[in-house]
Amino acid sequence: MRCPPTRIPPRAYPMSSNDFEVSTMNDVEPNFQALRKEFPVLERKTYLNSGSYGALANEVKAAVETYLEDRLLMGANWDAWSAKHESVRALTATLLHAGPDEIAVTASVSAGLNALASAVDFSGARNTVVVSDFEFPTNAQIWHAQEPRGARVVHVPCAADGYIPLENFAAAIDERTQLVAITHVCYRNGAKLDVPGIVRMARAKGAKVLLDCYQSVGSLDLDVKSLDVDFAAGGMLKYLLGTAGIGFLYVRESHIHSLVPTNSGWFAQAEIGAMDITANRPAPNARRFEAGTPAVVNSYAAEAGLKFLLAVGTPAIEKRNYALTRRCMQRLDEIGWPSITPVQDQRRGATVAVPSRDCVRLSAELMKRNIVTSPRDDNVRASFHFYNDEDDVESFIAAMKELRGSLSPR
Ligand SMILES: Cc1ncc(COP(=O)(O)O)c(C=O)c1O
Repeated sequence: MRCPPTRIPPRAYPMSSNDFEVSTMNDVEPNFQALRKEFPVLERKTYLNSGSYGALANEVKAAVETYLEDRLLMGANWDAWSAKHESVRALTATLLHAGPDEIAVTASVSAGLNALASAVDFSGARNTVVVSDFEFPTNAQIWHAQEPRGARVVHVPCAADGYIPLENFAAAIDERTQLVAITHVCYRNGAKLDVPGIVRMARAKGAKVLLDCYQSVGSLDLDVKSLDVDFAAGGMLKYLLGTAGIGFLYVRESHIHSLVPTNSGWFAQAEIGAMDITANRPAPNARRFEAGTPAVVNSYAAEAGLKFLLAVGTPAIEKRNYALTRRCMQRLDEIGWPSITPVQDQRRGATVAVPSRDCVRLSAELMKRNIVTSPRDDNVRASFHFYNDEDDVESFIAAMKELRGSLSPR
Protein backbone atom coordinates (compact mmCIF):
# COMPACT_ATOMS: atom_id res chain seq x y z
CA MET A 1 0.00 0.00 0.00
CA ARG A 2 1.50 3.32 -0.98
CA CYS A 3 2.11 6.04 1.53
CA PRO A 4 0.72 9.41 0.47
CA PRO A 5 1.96 12.63 1.99
CA THR A 6 0.29 13.12 5.34
CA ARG A 7 -0.22 16.82 4.69
CA ILE A 8 0.28 19.02 1.66
CA PRO A 9 1.80 22.36 2.66
CA PRO A 10 -0.68 25.17 2.01
CA ARG A 11 1.47 26.48 -0.86
CA ALA A 12 4.00 23.96 -2.05
CA TYR A 13 4.09 25.72 -5.43
CA PRO A 14 5.92 28.92 -6.25
CA MET A 15 3.99 32.03 -5.34
CA SER A 16 4.27 33.65 -8.73
CA SER A 17 5.50 33.03 -12.24
CA ASN A 18 8.66 34.99 -11.37
CA ASP A 19 9.82 32.00 -9.37
CA PHE A 20 10.39 30.22 -12.66
CA GLU A 21 12.87 31.18 -15.32
CA VAL A 22 10.22 31.41 -17.95
CA SER A 23 8.79 34.18 -20.01
CA THR A 24 5.61 34.67 -21.96
CA MET A 25 6.74 38.04 -23.24
CA ASN A 26 10.02 37.38 -25.04
CA ASP A 27 11.18 40.40 -27.03
CA VAL A 28 13.84 38.48 -28.93
CA GLU A 29 12.69 36.15 -31.70
CA PRO A 30 13.55 32.61 -30.55
CA ASN A 31 16.00 30.65 -32.69
CA PHE A 32 13.39 28.21 -33.99
CA GLN A 33 15.85 26.44 -36.26
CA ALA A 34 18.14 25.64 -33.33
CA LEU A 35 15.16 24.46 -31.24
CA ARG A 36 14.35 21.83 -33.88
CA LYS A 37 17.41 19.88 -32.72
CA GLU A 38 15.69 19.28 -29.38
CA PHE A 39 13.05 17.13 -31.11
CA PRO A 40 14.75 14.02 -32.57
CA VAL A 41 11.66 12.93 -34.52
CA LEU A 42 12.15 15.95 -36.80
CA GLU A 43 15.33 14.38 -38.22
CA ARG A 44 13.28 11.46 -39.52
CA LYS A 45 9.81 12.80 -40.16
CA THR A 46 7.96 15.86 -41.35
CA TYR A 47 5.94 16.03 -38.16
CA LEU A 48 2.62 17.83 -38.76
CA ASN A 49 0.64 16.11 -36.05
CA SER A 50 0.85 18.29 -32.93
CA GLY A 51 -2.95 18.64 -32.92
CA SER A 52 -3.00 14.93 -32.14
CA TYR A 53 0.19 14.44 -30.08
CA GLY A 54 3.10 16.88 -29.85
CA ALA A 55 6.68 15.89 -30.74
CA LEU A 56 8.82 14.65 -27.85
CA ALA A 57 11.63 16.96 -26.70
CA ASN A 58 14.87 15.55 -25.27
CA GLU A 59 14.19 17.46 -22.05
CA VAL A 60 10.78 15.86 -21.61
CA LYS A 61 12.26 12.39 -22.15
CA ALA A 62 14.97 13.22 -19.57
CA ALA A 63 12.32 14.34 -17.06
CA VAL A 64 10.50 11.01 -17.30
CA GLU A 65 13.83 9.22 -16.88
CA THR A 66 14.44 11.23 -13.71
CA TYR A 67 11.19 9.90 -12.32
CA LEU A 68 12.23 6.33 -13.14
CA GLU A 69 15.67 6.85 -11.56
CA ASP A 70 13.99 8.16 -8.42
CA ARG A 71 11.78 5.10 -8.31
CA LEU A 72 14.81 2.81 -8.66
CA LEU A 73 16.93 4.59 -6.09
CA MET A 74 14.39 5.90 -3.57
CA GLY A 75 11.27 3.80 -4.05
CA ALA A 76 8.79 6.52 -3.22
CA ASN A 77 9.47 10.23 -3.10
CA TRP A 78 6.13 11.76 -2.20
CA ASP A 79 7.47 15.17 -1.22
CA ALA A 80 9.10 15.59 -4.64
CA TRP A 81 6.00 14.22 -6.37
CA SER A 82 3.57 16.60 -4.72
CA ALA A 83 5.94 19.49 -5.46
CA LYS A 84 5.95 18.39 -9.12
CA HIS A 85 2.14 18.35 -9.19
CA GLU A 86 2.07 21.86 -7.70
CA SER A 87 4.70 23.02 -10.16
CA VAL A 88 2.47 21.86 -13.03
CA ARG A 89 -0.37 23.83 -11.48
CA ALA A 90 1.76 26.99 -11.18
CA LEU A 91 3.17 26.70 -14.71
CA THR A 92 -0.31 26.13 -16.15
CA ALA A 93 -1.49 29.23 -14.31
CA THR A 94 1.37 31.24 -15.81
CA LEU A 95 0.53 29.94 -19.27
CA LEU A 96 -3.14 30.89 -18.99
CA HIS A 97 -2.54 34.16 -17.08
CA ALA A 98 -4.57 32.75 -14.19
CA GLY A 99 -3.81 32.26 -10.51
CA PRO A 100 -2.57 28.85 -9.25
CA ASP A 101 -5.62 28.60 -6.99
CA GLU A 102 -7.79 28.70 -10.11
CA ILE A 103 -6.18 25.60 -11.66
CA ALA A 104 -7.13 21.97 -11.07
CA VAL A 105 -4.59 19.48 -12.41
CA THR A 106 -6.76 16.75 -13.88
CA ALA A 107 -6.27 13.42 -15.62
CA SER A 108 -7.87 14.67 -18.86
CA VAL A 109 -10.24 17.28 -20.27
CA SER A 110 -13.04 14.76 -19.77
CA ALA A 111 -12.16 14.35 -16.08
CA GLY A 112 -12.18 18.13 -15.56
CA LEU A 113 -15.50 18.58 -17.37
CA ASN A 114 -17.11 15.73 -15.44
CA ALA A 115 -16.05 17.30 -12.14
CA LEU A 116 -17.38 20.67 -13.27
CA ALA A 117 -20.66 19.21 -14.58
CA SER A 118 -21.20 17.40 -11.29
CA ALA A 119 -21.15 20.77 -9.50
CA VAL A 120 -23.71 22.45 -11.78
CA ASP A 121 -27.34 22.60 -10.70
CA PHE A 122 -29.72 21.93 -13.60
CA SER A 123 -32.90 21.76 -11.55
CA GLY A 124 -34.02 25.37 -12.11
CA ALA A 125 -35.17 27.37 -15.12
CA ARG A 126 -31.57 28.02 -16.19
CA ASN A 127 -30.91 24.44 -17.25
CA THR A 128 -29.52 24.84 -20.78
CA VAL A 129 -26.00 24.14 -22.02
CA VAL A 130 -25.21 25.58 -25.45
CA VAL A 131 -22.55 23.68 -27.44
CA SER A 132 -21.39 24.23 -31.00
CA ASP A 133 -21.11 21.87 -33.94
CA PHE A 134 -17.32 22.34 -33.72
CA GLU A 135 -17.06 20.49 -30.41
CA PHE A 136 -14.80 17.58 -29.71
CA PRO A 137 -17.27 14.81 -28.69
CA THR A 138 -16.39 14.89 -25.01
CA ASN A 139 -17.58 18.52 -24.68
CA ALA A 140 -21.04 17.54 -25.88
CA GLN A 141 -21.37 13.99 -24.56
CA ILE A 142 -20.65 15.04 -20.97
CA TRP A 143 -23.37 17.72 -21.13
CA HIS A 144 -25.83 15.25 -22.68
CA ALA A 145 -24.92 12.90 -19.81
CA GLN A 146 -26.42 15.53 -17.47
CA GLU A 147 -29.87 15.25 -19.13
CA PRO A 148 -31.18 12.87 -16.44
CA ARG A 149 -30.24 15.64 -13.95
CA GLY A 150 -32.39 18.16 -15.82
CA ALA A 151 -29.92 19.56 -18.35
CA ARG A 152 -31.04 20.53 -21.84
CA VAL A 153 -28.35 20.68 -24.53
CA VAL A 154 -28.72 23.03 -27.50
CA HIS A 155 -26.43 22.66 -30.53
CA VAL A 156 -25.30 25.68 -32.58
CA PRO A 157 -25.03 24.68 -36.24
CA CYS A 158 -22.46 25.69 -38.89
CA ALA A 159 -23.44 28.10 -41.65
CA ALA A 160 -23.23 27.09 -45.31
CA ASP A 161 -19.60 28.28 -45.53
CA GLY A 162 -18.59 25.82 -42.80
CA TYR A 163 -17.99 28.49 -40.13
CA ILE A 164 -20.22 29.27 -37.12
CA PRO A 165 -21.03 32.99 -37.14
CA LEU A 166 -22.12 34.93 -34.05
CA GLU A 167 -25.73 35.11 -35.31
CA ASN A 168 -26.00 31.35 -34.86
CA PHE A 169 -24.94 31.67 -31.23
CA ALA A 170 -27.34 34.59 -30.76
CA ALA A 171 -30.20 32.33 -31.83
CA ALA A 172 -29.25 29.71 -29.22
CA ILE A 173 -28.23 31.70 -26.12
CA ASP A 174 -31.10 32.99 -23.99
CA GLU A 175 -32.26 33.47 -20.39
CA ARG A 176 -32.41 29.70 -19.90
CA THR A 177 -28.72 29.29 -20.78
CA GLN A 178 -26.60 28.30 -17.80
CA LEU A 179 -23.42 27.56 -19.73
CA VAL A 180 -22.02 28.11 -23.20
CA ALA A 181 -19.50 25.28 -23.66
CA ILE A 182 -17.39 25.94 -26.73
CA THR A 183 -14.17 24.86 -28.31
CA HIS A 184 -11.61 27.55 -29.09
CA VAL A 185 -10.27 25.85 -32.22
CA CYS A 186 -12.17 23.04 -33.93
CA TYR A 187 -10.28 19.72 -33.97
CA ARG A 188 -11.74 18.82 -37.40
CA ASN A 189 -11.19 21.90 -39.54
CA GLY A 190 -8.88 24.22 -37.57
CA ALA A 191 -11.49 27.02 -37.41
CA LYS A 192 -11.26 29.35 -34.41
CA LEU A 193 -14.49 30.64 -32.88
CA ASP A 194 -15.06 34.31 -32.07
CA VAL A 195 -14.69 33.76 -28.33
CA PRO A 196 -14.85 37.45 -27.27
CA GLY A 197 -18.07 37.86 -29.28
CA ILE A 198 -19.61 34.70 -27.79
CA VAL A 199 -18.58 35.72 -24.26
CA ARG A 200 -20.23 39.14 -24.69
CA MET A 201 -23.42 37.42 -25.84
CA ALA A 202 -23.38 34.96 -22.92
CA ARG A 203 -22.77 37.74 -20.39
CA ALA A 204 -25.71 39.73 -21.78
CA LYS A 205 -27.98 36.76 -20.98
CA GLY A 206 -26.37 35.97 -17.61
CA ALA A 207 -24.72 32.73 -18.80
CA LYS A 208 -21.22 31.42 -18.06
CA VAL A 209 -18.68 30.29 -20.66
CA LEU A 210 -16.49 27.19 -20.70
CA LEU A 211 -13.66 27.17 -23.23
CA ASP A 212 -12.27 23.85 -24.43
CA CYS A 213 -8.83 25.14 -25.39
CA TYR A 214 -7.14 21.81 -26.07
CA GLN A 215 -6.57 22.69 -29.75
CA SER A 216 -5.27 26.18 -29.00
CA VAL A 217 -3.36 26.15 -25.72
CA GLY A 218 0.37 26.25 -26.40
CA SER A 219 -0.08 26.92 -30.11
CA LEU A 220 -1.60 30.39 -29.58
CA ASP A 221 -1.13 32.97 -26.86
CA LEU A 222 -4.00 32.41 -24.46
CA ASP A 223 -5.17 34.69 -21.66
CA VAL A 224 -8.26 33.46 -19.84
CA LYS A 225 -8.64 36.80 -18.07
CA SER A 226 -8.69 38.93 -21.17
CA LEU A 227 -10.92 36.36 -22.93
CA ASP A 228 -13.11 36.66 -19.81
CA VAL A 229 -14.14 33.00 -19.83
CA ASP A 230 -15.39 31.39 -16.61
CA PHE A 231 -13.84 27.95 -17.16
CA ALA A 232 -11.22 26.51 -19.48
CA ALA A 233 -10.04 22.96 -20.01
CA GLY A 234 -7.09 21.47 -21.86
CA GLY A 235 -4.40 18.83 -21.66
CA MET A 236 -0.66 18.40 -21.92
CA LEU A 237 -0.14 16.00 -24.79
CA LYS A 238 -0.58 18.21 -27.85
CA TYR A 239 0.95 21.70 -28.09
CA LEU A 240 2.12 21.65 -24.45
CA LEU A 241 4.84 19.10 -25.27
CA GLY A 242 3.96 16.82 -22.34
CA THR A 243 2.16 13.51 -22.31
CA ALA A 244 -1.24 11.86 -22.15
CA GLY A 245 -2.95 11.33 -18.80
CA ILE A 246 -2.67 14.87 -17.43
CA GLY A 247 -4.68 18.03 -18.09
CA PHE A 248 -6.13 21.07 -16.40
CA LEU A 249 -9.36 22.83 -15.55
CA TYR A 250 -9.32 26.58 -14.98
CA VAL A 251 -12.14 27.86 -12.75
CA ARG A 252 -12.53 31.59 -12.22
CA GLU A 253 -11.83 32.29 -8.57
CA SER A 254 -15.18 33.94 -7.86
CA HIS A 255 -17.06 30.76 -8.91
CA ILE A 256 -15.08 28.24 -6.87
CA HIS A 257 -16.87 28.64 -3.56
CA SER A 258 -20.35 28.13 -5.04
CA LEU A 259 -19.42 25.04 -7.07
CA VAL A 260 -19.20 21.83 -5.06
CA PRO A 261 -18.38 18.81 -7.25
CA THR A 262 -20.08 15.55 -6.35
CA ASN A 263 -17.48 13.92 -8.59
CA SER A 264 -14.73 14.10 -5.97
CA GLY A 265 -12.08 12.21 -4.01
CA TRP A 266 -9.45 12.49 -1.32
CA PHE A 267 -7.12 14.73 -3.32
CA ALA A 268 -10.00 17.19 -3.75
CA GLN A 269 -10.37 17.70 0.00
CA ALA A 270 -9.29 20.78 1.93
CA GLU A 271 -6.85 18.62 3.92
CA ILE A 272 -5.58 15.77 1.80
CA GLY A 273 -3.88 14.07 4.69
CA ALA A 274 -6.80 14.41 7.11
CA MET A 275 -8.15 10.99 6.06
CA ASP A 276 -11.53 11.97 7.45
CA ILE A 277 -14.28 9.58 6.37
CA THR A 278 -17.09 11.46 8.08
CA ALA A 279 -17.60 14.30 5.58
CA ASN A 280 -16.80 15.82 2.19
CA ARG A 281 -14.73 18.97 2.82
CA PRO A 282 -13.77 20.33 -0.60
CA ALA A 283 -10.58 22.34 -1.01
CA PRO A 284 -11.15 26.11 -0.96
CA ASN A 285 -9.48 26.42 -4.37
CA ALA A 286 -9.79 24.72 -7.77
CA ARG A 287 -8.15 21.60 -6.35
CA ARG A 288 -11.72 20.66 -5.35
CA PHE A 289 -12.14 19.59 -9.02
CA GLU A 290 -9.37 16.99 -8.71
CA ALA A 291 -10.04 13.45 -7.50
CA GLY A 292 -7.49 10.75 -6.60
CA THR A 293 -3.74 10.19 -6.58
CA PRO A 294 -2.11 12.58 -9.07
CA ALA A 295 -0.57 11.19 -12.25
CA VAL A 296 2.93 11.38 -10.83
CA VAL A 297 4.96 10.25 -13.83
CA ASN A 298 2.89 12.40 -16.19
CA SER A 299 3.57 15.48 -14.09
CA TYR A 300 7.33 15.09 -14.75
CA ALA A 301 6.67 15.21 -18.49
CA ALA A 302 4.09 18.00 -18.19
CA GLU A 303 6.39 20.19 -16.08
CA ALA A 304 9.29 19.82 -18.52
CA GLY A 305 7.03 20.49 -21.52
CA LEU A 306 5.47 23.58 -19.94
CA LYS A 307 8.86 25.00 -18.95
CA PHE A 308 10.15 24.47 -22.49
CA LEU A 309 7.12 26.09 -24.04
CA LEU A 310 7.09 29.07 -21.69
CA ALA A 311 10.79 29.67 -22.26
CA VAL A 312 10.12 29.88 -26.02
CA GLY A 313 7.16 32.19 -25.33
CA THR A 314 3.60 31.82 -26.58
CA PRO A 315 3.42 35.23 -28.37
CA ALA A 316 6.34 34.18 -30.60
CA ILE A 317 4.85 30.70 -31.06
CA GLU A 318 1.51 32.15 -32.13
CA LYS A 319 3.19 34.42 -34.68
CA ARG A 320 5.16 31.53 -36.12
CA ASN A 321 2.15 29.21 -36.28
CA TYR A 322 0.11 31.83 -38.13
CA ALA A 323 2.98 32.34 -40.59
CA LEU A 324 3.39 28.59 -41.21
CA THR A 325 -0.34 27.88 -41.60
CA ARG A 326 -0.76 30.93 -43.88
CA ARG A 327 2.08 29.75 -46.07
CA CYS A 328 0.78 26.19 -46.16
CA MET A 329 -2.67 27.38 -47.22
CA GLN A 330 -1.25 29.64 -49.93
CA ARG A 331 0.85 26.77 -51.30
CA LEU A 332 -2.17 24.43 -51.26
CA ASP A 333 -4.09 27.03 -53.28
CA GLU A 334 -1.22 27.19 -55.74
CA ILE A 335 -1.30 23.43 -56.39
CA GLY A 336 -5.09 23.52 -56.79
CA TRP A 337 -5.96 21.58 -53.63
CA PRO A 338 -7.26 24.29 -51.24
CA SER A 339 -7.76 23.67 -47.54
CA ILE A 340 -11.14 24.19 -45.87
CA THR A 341 -9.64 26.07 -42.91
CA PRO A 342 -10.63 29.75 -42.70
CA VAL A 343 -8.03 32.03 -44.28
CA GLN A 344 -8.35 34.94 -41.81
CA ASP A 345 -5.87 34.68 -38.92
CA GLN A 346 -8.58 35.58 -36.38
CA ARG A 347 -10.62 32.55 -37.51
CA ARG A 348 -7.81 30.01 -37.54
CA GLY A 349 -5.63 28.02 -35.13
CA ALA A 350 -2.50 25.99 -35.88
CA THR A 351 -4.18 23.34 -38.02
CA VAL A 352 -4.71 23.29 -41.77
CA ALA A 353 -7.41 20.83 -42.84
CA VAL A 354 -7.37 19.50 -46.37
CA PRO A 355 -10.37 17.64 -47.79
CA SER A 356 -9.91 14.30 -49.53
CA ARG A 357 -12.06 11.62 -51.13
CA ASP A 358 -10.30 9.19 -48.75
CA CYS A 359 -8.53 10.96 -45.92
CA VAL A 360 -7.48 7.76 -44.14
CA ARG A 361 -5.64 6.61 -47.28
CA LEU A 362 -4.23 10.10 -47.86
CA SER A 363 -2.80 10.19 -44.33
CA ALA A 364 -1.36 6.68 -44.85
CA GLU A 365 0.20 7.71 -48.18
CA LEU A 366 1.71 10.78 -46.53
CA MET A 367 3.08 8.58 -43.76
CA LYS A 368 4.78 6.36 -46.39
CA ARG A 369 6.55 9.57 -47.41
CA ASN A 370 7.52 10.23 -43.76
CA ILE A 371 4.93 12.97 -43.35
CA VAL A 372 2.89 12.57 -40.17
CA THR A 373 -0.67 13.97 -40.26
CA SER A 374 -4.01 12.75 -38.94
CA PRO A 375 -7.34 12.08 -40.65
CA ARG A 376 -10.53 13.58 -39.19
CA ASP A 377 -13.93 13.55 -40.89
CA ASP A 378 -13.26 14.07 -44.60
CA ASN A 379 -10.02 15.96 -44.00
CA VAL A 380 -6.38 15.39 -43.37
CA ARG A 381 -5.10 17.65 -40.60
CA ALA A 382 -1.65 19.18 -40.88
CA SER A 383 -1.04 20.82 -37.53
CA PHE A 384 1.93 23.09 -37.03
CA HIS A 385 4.01 24.04 -34.02
CA PHE A 386 7.03 26.26 -33.46
CA TYR A 387 9.39 23.39 -34.29
CA ASN A 388 8.06 23.17 -37.84
CA ASP A 389 9.56 25.24 -40.63
CA GLU A 390 9.05 26.26 -44.25
CA ASP A 391 10.82 23.10 -45.45
CA ASP A 392 8.12 21.07 -43.70
CA VAL A 393 5.49 23.03 -45.62
CA GLU A 394 7.33 22.31 -48.88
CA SER A 395 7.70 18.57 -48.13
CA PHE A 396 3.96 18.39 -47.43
CA ILE A 397 3.12 20.30 -50.61
CA ALA A 398 5.42 18.14 -52.76
CA ALA A 399 3.71 14.98 -51.47
CA MET A 400 0.22 16.44 -51.91
CA LYS A 401 1.08 17.39 -55.48
CA GLU A 402 2.08 13.80 -56.16
CA LEU A 403 -1.14 12.42 -54.59
CA ARG A 404 -3.46 15.06 -56.08
CA GLY A 405 -4.95 13.05 -58.93
CA SER A 406 -6.03 10.03 -56.90
CA LEU A 407 -6.86 11.52 -53.50
CA SER A 408 -8.11 15.10 -53.90
CA PRO A 409 -11.90 15.57 -53.60
CA ARG A 410 -13.88 14.19 -56.57
C1 LIG B 1 -10.63 20.01 -28.56
C2 LIG B 1 -10.46 18.74 -27.76
N1 LIG B 1 -11.14 18.61 -26.62
C3 LIG B 1 -11.06 17.48 -25.88
C4 LIG B 1 -10.26 16.43 -26.29
C5 LIG B 1 -10.24 15.17 -25.47
O1 LIG B 1 -9.58 15.38 -24.28
P1 LIG B 1 -9.38 14.23 -23.21
O2 LIG B 1 -9.05 12.98 -23.94
O3 LIG B 1 -8.22 14.74 -22.37
O4 LIG B 1 -10.62 14.12 -22.41
C6 LIG B 1 -9.51 16.54 -27.47
C7 LIG B 1 -8.64 15.43 -27.87
O5 LIG B 1 -8.09 15.37 -28.91
C8 LIG B 1 -9.63 17.72 -28.22
O6 LIG B 1 -8.98 17.88 -29.37
